[in-house]
Amino acid sequence: MIKNNRISKAVIPVAGLGTRMLPATKAIPKELLPILNKPIIQYVVEEAISAGIKEIIFITRSGKGAIENHFDINYELEYILEKKGKKRILKSVKNLIPKNVKISSIRQENALGLGHAINCAKHIINNEPFAVLLPDEILLERNSSKDFLEMLKLFEKSGKGQILVKKVSKKLVSNYGIVDIKKKSIKPLSSSSIYKLVEKPKINLSPSNLRIVGRYILPYEIMSILSKIKEGKDGEIQLTDALDVFINNNPASLEAFLSDSDIFDCGSVEGFLSANIAFAKRDIKMQKYLKKLIC
Ligand code: G1P
Repeated sequence: MIKNNRISKAVIPVAGLGTRMLPATKAIPKELLPILNKPIIQYVVEEAISAGIKEIIFITRSGKGAIENHFDINYELEYILEKKGKKRILKSVKNLIPKNVKISSIRQENALGLGHAINCAKHIINNEPFAVLLPDEILLERNSSKDFLEMLKLFEKSGKGQILVKKVSKKLVSNYGIVDIKKKSIKPLSSSSIYKLVEKPKINLSPSNLRIVGRYILPYEIMSILSKIKEGKDGEIQLTDALDVFINNNPASLEAFLSDSDIFDCGSVEGFLSANIAFAKRDIKMQKYLKKLIC
C-alpha cells in the first residue's frame, strides 16, 4: 500500500504525430485543435488543475513548441487587446495557469510508445504516486461529478491505483487496453479490483469489454517497471504491460474506475466532430445556432 496518497503531479504525453488528423496536424499539434474556441489540451490541463494537480509535465517532441507557447504569456497580443479595450478576450488568453501550478516539458527523443513517454518523467516524479492524462480523450461529465476528481479522492482514501474504464462493444476491444475484473459489476464513479490487463487484445482473447480510458492514478513503482519492461504490442513500451506486471506483484492494488462521462477520441475526425457538437449543445449561446444548423 502506498503511504503518501496525495497526488500533485500529472504527466500529459503530447508527443504523438496526430496521423489520424492529417493534414490538419501537419504544422499544428493535434492537442491545439479546438473544441469550440478552446484547444483540446487546455480542457485536459483544466481538468487536472481543477482536481488539485499542482505540477503538470508535458512529454513532448520537436515541432510541438506551440503547446508550451499556448500556456505562456504573449506580451504583444495582450498589449494589443488591452489597448483596444477587448477585456473579455484578454481575460481568455491571460493567466491560463494559476500561479501555484507549475508546467514543465520533457522531450521524448524516440517515439517508443506510451510507456516510454511516461517513463521520461521518472526523475521528476521522484518516488511519488502520480496521474497520467491522455489528451486525445476529452471527457464531458453526464452529471455533476467528474471522473478524474473522484478517482483522486478514491486513491487518497484507499492508496489503490485507479484506472478509468468504460464499456465498449466487443468489436472495438482490439483498439484499447482491456481490464479483467472477474465479471464483477461496477457502478459509475466506483471501482473494482483489476486482475489482469491486456493491450489491444483480439476479440476472442479479450478478458472483458471494459476498455481503458486515458486517465490513470498510479503508484511510483510503475516507473521502475517501465524502465525494465520489454517492447509489447506494435513493438512499443506499453503502459498496460507495466500495469499488468505491477498487479502480478501487488495483487488487489489497482482498481478499474467506471466512467460516468461521455468520452470523445479527439485524435479521430469522428470523435473531434462529436466533441465539438456535444460541447456546443452544452453552451447556451451555441445551442440555438446548432439547432438551426442541424434540424
Ligand atoms: C493508449 C493505451 C490504451 C488505452 C488508450 C486510451 O492507446 O495504450 O491501453 O486504452 O490509450 O486512449 P493508444 O490510443 O495510444 O494507442
